[in-house]
Amino acid sequence: MNVENVMVTGANRGIGLEFVRQLSRLSEAPKHIFATYRSPDSLKDLKEIEESSKKSKIILIKMDVTCPQEIEAAKRLVEETVGERGLNLLINNAGVAQPAFFPNITSENLALHFKVNTEGPIMVLQAMLPILEKAAQVQGSGAGMSVSRAAVLNMTSMAGSITNTGFVFTEDLAVPSYKISKAALNMAMRVAAANAKDKGILVVMMCPGWVKTDMGGRDRGVLEPEESIAAMINTLSTLDETHHGVFMDREGIPYPF
Ligand SMILES: NC(=O)c1ccc[n+]([C@@H]2O[C@H](COP(=O)([O-])OP(=O)(O)OC[C@H]3O[C@@H](n4cnc5c(N)ncnc54)[C@H](OP(=O)(O)O)[C@@H]3O)[C@@H](O)[C@H]2O)c1
Repeated sequence: MNVENVMVTGANRGIGLEFVRQLSRLSEAPKHIFATYRSPDSLKDLKEIEESSKKSKIILIKMDVTCPQEIEAAKRLVEETVGERGLNLLINNAGVAQPAFFPNITSENLALHFKVNTEGPIMVLQAMLPILEKAAQVQGSGAGMSVSRAAVLNMTSMAGSITNTGFVFTEDLAVPSYKISKAALNMAMRVAAANAKDKGILVVMMCPGWVKTDMGGRDRGVLEPEESIAAMINTLSTLDETHHGVFMDREGIPYPF
């Protein structure tokens, strides 16, 4: 995998932070990693990675995925930095999971999940699309799909699978709005995939597994971030057009919508 320019949303902690760390240490590390965050107070770990990165230039961008102005400003910065080389990989990682059990789901709780987990990735992708298209064009229309060319990785969850009704984690029942928002994200990215196919931009939805982060629970999760992200990066390097629009686990094994 040789990805020149990457953007990771929600990169100040958890899965996003570990993506930045591991990407910056690849033998063929990206030239630029655009790492987004919301609060300057949350930057300690990300700044450490930025300062110690030898191969990649890590560019920190303040971007709330629910803020159109910040998305637009991020787009301009990415555009100015990458020029005609374009953006090769967008990792739509930022997300929230806040408990609210049925039948006491509030409108606010549902709206928050939809805003951050569904609408956010759509808006970020739409903003970055022309820059992803530029990267896809660098290799020409004859090139197949790959993460090294142009791709969108959406961090989704098996909790968002509708087909998998026979097996619902009790844990998941605490976050119905999260499940609903990830199912909607999967559909949103199916639509994006259908539209991006002719542009040579690969779109996939991947579940990282149950990871020990603030969201996954540091004592409840089963995977260390290091293990989950290493598996995902390995899988990313193997993806081609046969994976376009596919919902998969971290090993690349398709999962039912
Ligand atoms: N952990 C798991 O087991 C698991 C399983 C399946 C899928 N996932 C998915 O993987 C992704 C990352 O999860 P995680 O475990 O790393 O979660 P996490 O530790 O809670 O981190 C969430 C990240 O998203 C950012 N974020 C939240 N709201 C945002 C907004 N409005 N705009 C921009 N950034 C925002 C957070 O920034 P702040 O620090 O500013 O809040 C933080 O950087 C999520 O999409 C999640 O649904 C995780």
